[in-house]
Amino acid sequence: MKYSIPKGVFDILPNEPKEEDQWRSSHHWIYIEEVIRKCANDFGFKEIRLPLFEQTELFVRGVGESSDIVSKEMYTFLDKADRSLTLRPEGTASTIRAFIEKKLYTQPGLHKYYYIGPMFRYERPQAGRYRQHHQFGAEAIGVGAPEQDVEMIHFLWEFYHRLGLKNLYVQLNSVGDEPSRASFRKALTSYLEPHFSKLSEDSQVRFSRNILRILDSKSPEDQALLEGAPSLADHLSLEAKDHFNKVQQLLRQLKIPFEINLKLVRGLDYYNQTVFEITSSKLGSHNTIGAGGRYDGLTEAVGGPYLPSVGFATGLERVLQTLQGQNIPFPKPPHPIVFFVPLGPKALHACFLLVAQLREEGISAEIDLSEKKVQQGLKLADSTKSKFCVVLGERELETGEIELKEMASRTSQTLPFHDLISFLRKTHV
Ligand code: HAM
Repeated sequence: MKYSIPKGVFDILPNEPKEEDQWRSSHHWIYIEEVIRKCANDFGFKEIRLPLFEQTELFVRGVGESSDIVSKEMYTFLDKADRSLTLRPEGTASTIRAFIEKKLYTQPGLHKYYYIGPMFRYERPQAGRYRQHHQFGAEAIGVGAPEQDVEMIHFLWEFYHRLGLKNLYVQLNSVGDEPSRASFRKALTSYLEPHFSKLSEDSQVRFSRNILRILDSKSPEDQALLEGAPSLADHLSLEAKDHFNKVQQLLRQLKIPFEINLKLVRGLDYYNQTVFEITSSKLGSHNTIGAGGRYDGLTEAVGGPYLPSVGFATGLERVLQTLQGQNIPFPKPPHPIVFFVPLGPKALHACFLLVAQLREEGISAEIDLSEKKVQQGLKLADSTKSKFCVVLGERELETGEIELKEMASRTSQTLPFHDLISFLRKTHV
């Protein structure tokens, strides 16, 4: 019986064999994770690691019943004690759950967290869309000021900037506070009610569940109906307008280019006020690489005190694909300093002990333990892209002298065997 990987997921291999999937190679993930950690540190965010599954109800309450995530895409199962659990589809609800459960708001200091990890959504797999994808996300809990919204957008923008990504666009909107939305909902309901039968099936469901989401509809018929619809911007309360204006002013001051997109409402129900998406022209219809917004009501919805919050998440597959699509070179993975090709059992034993010693000194050393012939051993050394190679046989053991070959220049030098460590120590530093 041969097994194959489930649909919509992929392996992350040290070296992805397919050219178009090079972005998947594991050293690229390590690289962008390093950039994330440095950037998070510079912006004052601390890492939080959350479980891969939670009580289903957390996502139903947190992300919202009218969202596609909850209504169609969750991996939900019963455990052996008949509890309903769900593989996390996103990280915000879990971060807030942990924050409230552990009463982290009673701790002094700023409450700024980031996470990196897999998320699970039962979506139709296609380019840039997977059933297991990985997010880098961040949440700032407890501050309602517009500066906090802009700090988040700046953080995400700076991360992309450090990676060298180009041609990115920030789409910005305000979905208002509760009074703004109540007034807009009323106006939109009166406008769409006479056209109800012409709405797409999805939008008919959204009509009663969360009418705002109809603005997000991809159906051309819905979009045509929305042409003359009232605009959320005309229903913003004075406070919401002020907040939104301040966000725009600060973005201009930080020189982060943005466009207002009045149709942007986001697919998760917890948002209020500022919402944003960052898109790249390169990824076709799934070109949103990162997105987020303010969600002031979520802490109360999951049983905590009122704590206005804002966050974002970016899909790491989409970041890596965009890097490859824009031909931005990834740093090379590290290679061994020295590769040993032992010839015969005695040499193997001597090299084995030497390699162990080198590694203990923090010098990356590799050895061919399979006792191949010289030519095959050298080929192997080449494939590892080691800086040096040593072929050690009976003769070298007798004379105590070895030949250290520098692979790039194909030049060699002779050294006493017992000087090798101190020589490599110097080269390595
Ligand atoms: P989201 O827009 O659902 O937001 O997902 C964030 C990002 O994850 C997307 O922009 C996209 O890059 C990536 N993504 C989502 N689904 C997939 C998929 N099936 N395959 C590949 N990539 C995907 C959230 O998850 C919110 N929790 C963001 C947030 C944090 N808002 C406030 N705080």
